Amino acid sequence: MIQHSQIETAAALLRAGKLVAFPTETVYGLGANALDDAAVARIYAAKQRPQFNPLITHVSDAATAFLHGKFNPDAERLMAAFWPGALTIILPRRDDCQLSLLVGAGLDCIALRAPDHPLAQALLAASGLPLAAPSANRSGRVSPTLARHVEEELGDKLAMILDGGACSVGIESTVLDLSGNAPVILRPGSVTKAMIEGVIGAVRLSGDGAIKSPGMLESHYAPNAIVRLNAENAEAGETLLAFGSAEGDLNLSKNGDLTEAAANLFAMLRVLDKTATRIAVSPIPMEGLGIAINDRLQRAAVR
Ligand code: TXA
Ligand code: MG
Repeated sequence: MIQHSQIETAAALLRAGKLVAFPTETVYGLGANALDDAAVARIYAAKQRPQFNPLITHVSDAATAFLHGKFNPDAERLMAAFWPGALTIILPRRDDCQLSLLVGAGLDCIALRAPDHPLAQALLAASGLPLAAPSANRSGRVSPTLARHVEEELGDKLAMILDGGACSVGIESTVLDLSGNAPVILRPGSVTKAMIEGVIGAVRLSGDGAIKSPGMLESHYAPNAIVRLNAENAEAGETLLAFGSAEGDLNLSKNGDLTEAAANLFAMLRVLDKTATRIAVSPIPMEGLGIAINDRLQRAAVR
């Protein structure tokens, strides 16, 4: 159990410009004060992340988001429908935006999200800060869904890790760009295209390979092992990451439940990556959350 005093300690560390990892419902975030250039720069250094890759700023609610990003009625409707939750919205910076320019990596738009996790919300409230937080892994590695993963990846670079147990969603938030003429999903996630379209009408799923969002870098989520997708069976030398009724070394969801599969995805890839050199993955249906799962798997399979 996390104590109130640990939240206060974490908030004080953030105010002092230090890095604190914290749980969200999607994956663990590597947090820093988004108003402080030096603190944000420490995130890039810790992750060894290419400077051009912008970061998500976490806020407690829509009202706080619009202190930083320009008001947009579609954004307001989506925030009302899905916040707090796994939807990141990209908006143009307000002229009086106080966020570090580094969070947008020099772009004139910013990515905002209100996380749906009690510890993340407690930390936002206690610090009174917007928190820049990419996933708490080294650049190019799968995202952490347990505090232990964060410790393994970045332990020596952090002032503190708040342990909130396993992340319930397990894959990163949907990233929706509302800064241009038409809305575009830059990264699929658990808030699906259909869910978004139910609120604001037609949106496009970016698949044109244009890297505006470098999280779209093709091999962003790479384990060390070679990954083969849509495998009906494991071939010699392969370890099978199964789904549904397939018999595998590990199974994302024996019941074929996509929500369970998303929550297990990164943790199981990490476990298999410790011993396997070749990972075969059962077919995952391209529907609902399966679109986001297949997106992450395709990146994991790129060498
Ligand atoms: O679920 C999540 O979103 C997690 C948790 C910690 O909130 N965070 C996360 O952050 O996945 P990160 O930095 O690993 O991924 C952020 C994505 C990247 O694909 C990044 O390129 C994109 O959002 N992004 C951020 N700001 C952007 C901007 N101004 N324009 C375009 N893309 C942006
Ligand atoms: Mg990431």
